[in-house]
Amino acid sequence: MNAKKIAILIGSLRTGSFNRKVAKAVIALAPETLALEIVEIGQLQLYNQDLDVDPPKEWKEFREKIREFDGILFFTPEYNRSFTAVLKNALDIGSRPPAKSVWSGKPGGIVSVSPGRLGGFGANHHLRQVLFGVNIHAMIQPEAYISDAAGLFNENEQLIDEHARTLLTKFINSFAEWVER
Ligand SMILES: Cc1cc2nc3c(=O)[nH]c(=O)nc-3n(C[C@H](O)[C@H](O)[C@H](O)COP(=O)(O)O)c2cc1C
Repeated sequence: MNAKKIAILIGSLRTGSFNRKVAKAVIALAPETLALEIVEIGQLQLYNQDLDVDPPKEWKEFREKIREFDGILFFTPEYNRSFTAVLKNALDIGSRPPAKSVWSGKPGGIVSVSPGRLGGFGANHHLRQVLFGVNIHAMIQPEAYISDAAGLFNENEQLIDEHARTLLTKFINSFAEWVER
């Protein structure tokens, strides 16, 4: 059986991002039925509808790239109780023109990661609302709110927190089943 190709979008451009570390941990925990790949979004110009007459090459490359995938996994920080602008920008770019949206019908999953105690709950749910709008079928359960992110890794960026490892393993195995369905 061919592995399903899953794009990972990370809503943080920060060097040392906890979301990126968690994304890499999930890649390592994933079953062989999934082929996960991080697709970068920091190079995308801010969405401006005027530019869609002759889109920047970065937009075109991003749209073509996303079409290759069978599903999308989002890792998002929480900025002011929502998900981040860089992630929204990528979603908006991929959604145009509407008849050629790169998102529609794909399965999706959301992991929110925060050094705070609430695990990015607000970001997770705002993102979920937007995924309805672009017709990404986001997995409902298990939910993944990863809190206290600063204490999850050792100095070699290995995930050492057993609770988080168990949760993320369950999440990615369930996501593999969700993609099959
Ligand atoms: C503009 C801004 C707003 C933030 N708002 C929140 C927030 O609402 N809730 C939260 O838990 N953390 C908030 N934070 C802290 C982020 O969770 C923290 O910077 C985190 O490390 C970002 O994820 P990253 O490590 O993947 O870059 C905010 C950070 C910034 C820069």
